[in-house]
Amino acid sequence: MAGENWTDVGSAEELAGRPLSAVKAATTKLAVSCRDGVFGAVSNACNHAGGPLGDGTLDGDYVVCPWHQWKFHRLTGRGEPGFEADQVPAYPVRVEAGRVLVDVAAGTPRTKSPHEPHPLERPVVRAPGPIRVLGLSTTAMDGGAPRYSGSDDLLASALAAAAAEGCETQLIRLNDLSFEACKGYYSKAAHACTWPCSVTQMRPDDGLTPVYEGLVHWCDAVIVSTPIRWGQASSLYFRMAERLNTIQNQVTIRNRVLIRNKVAAFIIVGGQDNVQGVAGQMLGFFAELGFHFPQFPYVAHSRGWTAEDMQNNVTAVRNSRPLHVGAGELAIRAAELAQRLLDAEARDHIARGGRKAQPV
Ligand code: FES
Repeated sequence: MAGENWTDVGSAEELAGRPLSAVKAATTKLAVSCRDGVFGAVSNACNHAGGPLGDGTLDGDYVVCPWHQWKFHRLTGRGEPGFEADQVPAYPVRVEAGRVLVDVAAGTPRTKSPHEPHPLERPVVRAPGPIRVLGLSTTAMDGGAPRYSGSDDLLASALAAAAAEGCETQLIRLNDLSFEACKGYYSKAAHACTWPCSVTQMRPDDGLTPVYEGLVHWCDAVIVSTPIRWGQASSLYFRMAERLNTIQNQVTIRNRVLIRNKVAAFIIVGGQDNVQGVAGQMLGFFAELGFHFPQFPYVAHSRGWTAEDMQNNVTAVRNSRPLHVGAGELAIRAAELAQRLLDAEARDHIARGGRKAQPV
């Protein structure tokens, strides 16, 4: 019939041997499925973030996207029950002389059910007001039996000093938040790691939301505190850091810088060793996110390799005036640098450096 465009996409025997195949019909990429001998063809591009549906799996009659598991009916293209209005194009299919033919001219329209953008998705605009300092505590403790934490105590001194200088302050303890580990979507494809984080988009109660909100939309300076555990920052720190890939990845895949004119500084308290190793990782990571650093960007304490009398570490930190004064001065240095960056931005837009020359 006029307007039809039946295109051969492959051998029926071969395509029937796999539940789902990614194929190309001229320039149209398709996810061709076969279940109980019945073929279906839908667009290969997922409605969510363009994931390759043909590389996914079949769940009954639904194609499951390999990136974040959205589902579309393999024959109609409709979203799973409750999300039917989210529809990918579906195409007529027929088998002739052992070949699978798809009419690529007769695809149904792609429709996306309107959804409110996630609140984190809003443009990053610094609201007027005093310099805002966020304290991020990453120590992991038994919440039911809290005890003294040297890194938390120094963080409290840092925030108190910033507040005394007129800064707004906020403290977030990762230990109080319930949040999932990164699912490694970035490892599937660069574009599978989205902003806001795909985990956050799928879980309205994602506990990491206040951290994203604080880092991207609220703070001018962040002070991250951590204990040293086996020569590294705390496990909670790394659980958060992996989830912050979503911020760094926006620079890589969209040339979109979410962190501008912001400062990061660190408090590191260890029983025995490796202050500089921990600081190096934290500096490198926060540099990748786009933060600047004040001169001498961390305050740290460790009594050395032979100090197995751990109980005396906390006493040393609790009683050390230089450490508490130093933490306060660190916060003030960070706040002052943030103010300078904002002043300079207001005067003459600060050009950001590029990174990673290769396109994705
Ligand atoms: S679920 Fe398909 S791209 Fe996210």
